[in-house]
Amino acid sequence: MGKAIEIDWNIIENVIKQYSENREALLMIMQDISDIYNFVPPEVVPFLAKKLGIRESQVYSVATFYKTISLKPRGKYIVNVCTGTACHVRGAEKIMDALKQNLMIEEGQTTDDGIFSLAAVRCVGCCASGPVITVNHDTHGGLDRSKVLDVIEGYKKSAS
Ligand code: FES
Repeated sequence: MGKAIEIDWNIIENVIKQYSENREALLMIMQDISDIYNFVPPEVVPFLAKKLGIRESQVYSVATFYKTISLKPRGKYIVNVCTGTACHVRGAEKIMDALKQNLMIEEGQTTDDGIFSLAAVRCVGCCASGPVITVNHDTHGGLDRSKVLDVIEGYKKSAS
């Protein structure tokens, strides 16, 4: 981790254009940039601020508030554990503990091999299938300790 990445400014510009340089779309723009790099490279922040005519501090506050956005490099697979009320009641904490143990990282960290990042997020909108995790754009529900470890095993295999 920590290696400098090459930013393709044309791609960043296109993302901003797709939203007609609308400052209201800041979160969506950051989400799209995250989809490309798995994080929002900090050097993009001043560029975004300039293009959208907002302060850099506004960009930083969105990045800090939304846990789906990170200014630090993240793993290939971003594992988000839903800790919303419904998932909490159904044992989200056990799911988080199983993942921490298995991946040997804490919330907010990335494995040394750069494959997994782990985070707790608010409700992801499929409470009926709780407890739920998302891995990049996939949602996995109805989990218990062994099921979530199976899910992770699958990603480990496809990463190797
Ligand atoms: S509380 Fe987890 S999906 Fe809603």
